[in-house]
Amino acid sequence: MTRRLEELRSRRWYADQGMRGFAHRQRMQQMGLRREDVLERPIVGIVNTWSDLSPCHAHLRERAEAVKRGVLLAGGMPFELPAMSLGEVMVKPTTMLYRNFLAMETEELLRSHPIDGVVLLGGCDKTTPGMLMGAISMDVPAIFCPAGPMLNDRHRGRPVGAGTHTRLFWDELQAGRIGAAEWVQLESRMTRSPGTCNTMGTASTMTSMVEALGMALPGSTSIPAMDAAHPRMAADCGERIVQMIWDDLTPRRILTRGAFLNAAAVQMALGGSTNAVVHIIAMARRAGVVLTLDDLDAMGRRVPVLANLFPSGEGLMEDFYYAGGVPALMQRIAAHLSLDEQTCRGRPLREQVEAAEVIDAGVIRPLDRPVSTEPALAVLRGNLAPEGAVIKPSAATPALMRHRGRALVFDSPPQMLAAVADESLDCDERTVLVLRQAGPVGAPGMPEWGNLPIPKKLLARGVRDIVRISDARMSGTHFGTCVLHVSPESAVGGPLALVRTGDVIELDVPARRLHLVVDDAELARRRAAWQPPAQPFERGWTRLHQQHVTQAHEGCDLDFLQGTAHTAEPPIY
Ligand code: FES
Repeated sequence: MTRRLEELRSRRWYADQGMRGFAHRQRMQQMGLRREDVLERPIVGIVNTWSDLSPCHAHLRERAEAVKRGVLLAGGMPFELPAMSLGEVMVKPTTMLYRNFLAMETEELLRSHPIDGVVLLGGCDKTTPGMLMGAISMDVPAIFCPAGPMLNDRHRGRPVGAGTHTRLFWDELQAGRIGAAEWVQLESRMTRSPGTCNTMGTASTMTSMVEALGMALPGSTSIPAMDAAHPRMAADCGERIVQMIWDDLTPRRILTRGAFLNAAAVQMALGGSTNAVVHIIAMARRAGVVLTLDDLDAMGRRVPVLANLFPSGEGLMEDFYYAGGVPALMQRIAAHLSLDEQTCRGRPLREQVEAAEVIDAGVIRPLDRPVSTEPALAVLRGNLAPEGAVIKPSAATPALMRHRGRALVFDSPPQMLAAVADESLDCDERTVLVLRQAGPVGAPGMPEWGNLPIPKKLLARGVRDIVRISDARMSGTHFGTCVLHVSPESAVGGPLALVRTGDVIELDVPARRLHLVVDDAELARRRAAWQPPAQPFERGWTRLHQQHVTQAHEGCDLDFLQGTAHTAEPPIY
């Protein structure tokens, strides 16, 4: 399919023969552009999530210039559009509260401006799904230009990963095994350059899955942010989007159910973040594709963890890049992929998978030598999670995959943090920690509180993992036996709201079961006495979020943004 200049969306603004068209062209010439620059070229938007407070995206101002170079060389006209930057560490209470805000912002930026196609610049956890969700809804040609991971680090001869080792070293500090001076040294050492986290956390999981979906160039998402190949890749994105505009290669032509299942297969082979579950379901629903927790559990049973990367394995993102990146990983699991899906290159996925090469079999393992015998994801159900909950067995303790213990329940992080610091806390290694009021509505925003801290008393005894359950999410850089995304959440009356300290909970991951050992009559009594918690947010975005966010198993999108619906182009008068 090849479109003619007259068919481009931007022509409504620039080719108009009335007073409005005059004003649109006039204002471009006010900026020093020539009339023909906007009248005779496709217009490319570059949605940039750069910010001074987002170290993962610190280099994206310069990368936008590389994208512009590619657009201009291919005959397009680039315009940069700043969007909310969701730096994972700085934005409070949680970037997840704002993922849908960025999605809505991206969609409306594209709708309200004379844009024919878009390059999406981002990479920190929620920016990737947020921008993609907006671009899918708007359905103009779009390509994702990933921020790229930060450089690797080593400490005392061992690889050190952002996020993963922060929690690990913190536990060592609490247990008195590292000193204050070493802790301060680590603070300045562990994140060596701009770029996203160098472990297979949420950022790299999501960018890799977007590459597997076909929305990013092959091999692009593992290129380190500070490698000279990175600005070259950014220029390639700029060049490619111009041809995608001429071909009218829109997200919905790429994002089939097969493409989403390919992305799910890559998540499993990567040992990727549990956060991806929420995001991939939300993106699929935007594309009008039915994708459920059961689809993801089934993929987890089929595709083993092959990427030997933290937190499931031992390497970091630079190692993955040298080993061949996503194309090489997809070659390993080709038997589980739908290879006829079309990608942003306008070619079938099969071509790039067949051209790939695994350079390091220690980092991208063969199918018969997986990193873990446990899957990257398991979906649990039971009377404690009727709509599902998730766990990442490959980053958990095998001995805890079948467990029975007494609940110790908390209703807020301050209550929990005070309790776990108390060395006389009534708990042992069989205790099941429960945190509620941490879901999409309750927190609000479903923060990454799901890696509940181990009580100090147990850390001193050498205990490093116990079973933890919440309606929260967990950072993709973390590990531990954490049951997450319990749905429905406690704030809307899910069964988690009915658990009391001392109740027995049974976890059986092989049987995919999560059960509260309390009889139905007693649960009914507790439900009758349950009062919904107050929702304190009276204004602004948070109020809109609380009123409209869907539950974890539905992707946590806003209910009025799911699915596909044609939205009229803005009138030009
Ligand atoms: Fe941005 Fe981890 S904090 S990717």
